[in-house]
Amino acid sequence: MIVDLRSDTVTQPSEAMKAAMFSAKLGDDVFAEDPTIIELQEKCADIFGMEAGLYCPSGTMTNQIAIKMHTQPLDEVICDKLSHIYKYENGAWAMQSGVSMKLLQGNRGRLNAEMVEANIQPEYDWLPRTKLVSLENTCNSGGGSCYDLQTLKEIKAVSQKHNLKFHLDGARIFNALTYSKIEATEFGKLFDSISICLSKGLGAPVGSVLLGTKQDIKFARRIRKAFGGGMRQSGILAAAGLFAIENNINKLEEDHKKAKILEDTLKSCYYIENVLDVQTNIIIFDIRKDFMNAESFVQKLGELDILCAPFDSQTVRFVTHLDVSNKQLEKAVKVLKSLDN
Ligand SMILES: Cc1ncc(COP(=O)(O)O)c(C=O)c1O
Repeated sequence: MIVDLRSDTVTQPSEAMKAAMFSAKLGDDVFAEDPTIIELQEKCADIFGMEAGLYCPSGTMTNQIAIKMHTQPLDEVICDKLSHIYKYENGAWAMQSGVSMKLLQGNRGRLNAEMVEANIQPEYDWLPRTKLVSLENTCNSGGGSCYDLQTLKEIKAVSQKHNLKFHLDGARIFNALTYSKIEATEFGKLFDSISICLSKGLGAPVGSVLLGTKQDIKFARRIRKAFGGGMRQSGILAAAGLFAIENNINKLEEDHKKAKILEDTLKSCYYIENVLDVQTNIIIFDIRKDFMNAESFVQKLGELDILCAPFDSQTVRFVTHLDVSNKQLEKAVKVLKSLDN
């Protein structure tokens, strides 16, 4: 029995999800005629109290469309240096939008209003123009860390004061909502755009939705086409997203409980130097240098059928998800404890 803790993107669609996909009503979405796509976009917008949504193949695309939509070349985006949009999207912001990044060192990927305000560029011909603040919630590289509502409101106030657009990479927003118990509509009120992913903890095989105003999403549709993301009978994929939203959000709590069990286990092992306090489904921890490095640790666990990802020379990441059963969790705990001898 293999336990795959590398990412919450490794889930397989369930039989019920596949049945929903095969019975979906389809049309050509480049003509905006796919009823399942339309339903998913409207449903996601409704959940967050936003005007409109746009279905895209990936979270990278929804984030990068948002950057393109909110900026002009020579503008600057403020984000944390751990942000996915900066670290893991191939510098697409430079290639596609011609913007620069002002990287801040927050707390586990989370910024605050003071830091944002202190890093807005003054108006000079030789400085990029600050145009967009982008946050990530939960923050993947911050170990699934969540923002509190007050901090978000304060950053929003600073953004408004300086006429900056405010984007949220909410690839794991439903994990954040589950943990923080904040209403989704609060996020809709705060952000100009939100990217949500259906293919992470929610278990769909593909798909992200960008949310915003009707006018912005109209423009986003044009950018999506230019980025090559206009799809045709893609309702077959969106049906998986709808199924995920209807059936899998309430299962995230279970993933969080499993992550806590892994956190407790790791904290009890002598070979672990440090574990970032777990809030959601991501566990980031450091291996003691005198035990082994992250690469050897990942290899060792792999030989024992526990798959995980190295994050840095001594740092490893586990992610819990829909396809980690109680039995698999028990096995992972047993293996981790067995290395303690
Ligand atoms: C926080 C965050 N944002 C965006 C993405 C990009 O999503 P995709 O892999 O669908 O492009 C990921 C992917 O893991 C992510 O973790």
